[in-house]
Amino acid sequence: MSHRARPSGPWTVAGLIREGARRFRAAHLRFGHGTSRAEDEAAYLAFHALGWSPDTPARALSRQVKPPEAKRVLGLFSERIHTRKPAAYLTHEAWLGDFRFYVDQRVIVPRSHIAGMLFDGLRPWATGRIGTALDLCTGSGCLAILLARAFRGATIDAADLSRAALAVARRNVRDYRLGKRIRLIRSDLFSALRGKHYDLIVSNPPYVSGAAMRRLQREYRHEPRLALASGRDGLDAARAILLRAAAHLKPGGLLVMEVGSGRRRLERAFPRLEFTWAETPGGGDVLVVGRDQLPPQARPRPVQQATGGLPAAAARRTGRASTAAAG
Ligand SMILES: C[S@@+](CC[C@H](N)C(=O)[O-])C[C@H]1O[C@@H](n2cnc3c(N)ncnc32)[C@H](O)[C@@H]1O
Repeated sequence: MSHRARPSGPWTVAGLIREGARRFRAAHLRFGHGTSRAEDEAAYLAFHALGWSPDTPARALSRQVKPPEAKRVLGLFSERIHTRKPAAYLTHEAWLGDFRFYVDQRVIVPRSHIAGMLFDGLRPWATGRIGTALDLCTGSGCLAILLARAFRGATIDAADLSRAALAVARRNVRDYRLGKRIRLIRSDLFSALRGKHYDLIVSNPPYVSGAAMRRLQREYRHEPRLALASGRDGLDAARAILLRAAAHLKPGGLLVMEVGSGRRRLERAFPRLEFTWAETPGGGDVLVVGRDQLPPQARPRPVQQATGGLPAAAARRTGRASTAAAG
């Protein structure tokens, strides 16, 4: 459609959404931060600009909007196109199921596959009582908050290396009034958690490989690099967590960790470890390992292509040269 032939008001909400989707496709936007289609992204942004709740009934779509409202919606569409920022950074909110979280560019936009497992109370994996849990690499605090909702009697530590991310997590914890149950801790993986033991550790660490980081689409480049990159093969953080988790789990404790597309590489790196992969509602690979399957002496087998090794502090703690740990 030429510029002159574009529809102009009066607009219905449905018409605005169609127009937004058309513009998004023409601009080759990428989705994956809460929506997966141009129509859904346009509907989400239109509702947000109009101040409508996401569960507004479909019949409202035929409603005509006033010119200033249409201007707001079209303005938000333009901002999405010109900045290429994920919608969540424009609206400052992200949703996991019915749970809303404040977000800005200090944290990755929440989309962890572990969230769906927590909605189900981590069944069938978590069978015993969860009194203490750790969310390692907490970012916005979203998984720590879902942990607190799933396990009502639990106290939770939520750790991250990024001070900026912890500030966002603090805001979300306050919004959910969970300050008494969730403790936010600045920590390089387990370094500030010496002597702490948990019934459950969940982690969605950074796991993007060096090659994938170089190919990142523009939308993803707005997210903190610290939240994505993890060495040459993307598994530096995951390896370090696997090596140290047993020392921080109580007997019978469980580690639940997301690893992106690193499943096969991780299995090859830990040939003696019995891996169990949970089927998640979103189809992502999430590792579930009991403390007993995770002997403290577990050591990764050197992997040729990995040169990044353990993050320096983790390497120091395990007393291993980073090249020996990662190959
Ligand atoms: C993929 S994001 C996950 C955030 C959140 N858990 C979620 O699911 O949306 C990874 C987080 O790990 C943090 N991180 C990266 N390296 C870390 C380290 N060595 N120790 C602790 N946190 C780290 C980043 O700051 C980022 O917030």
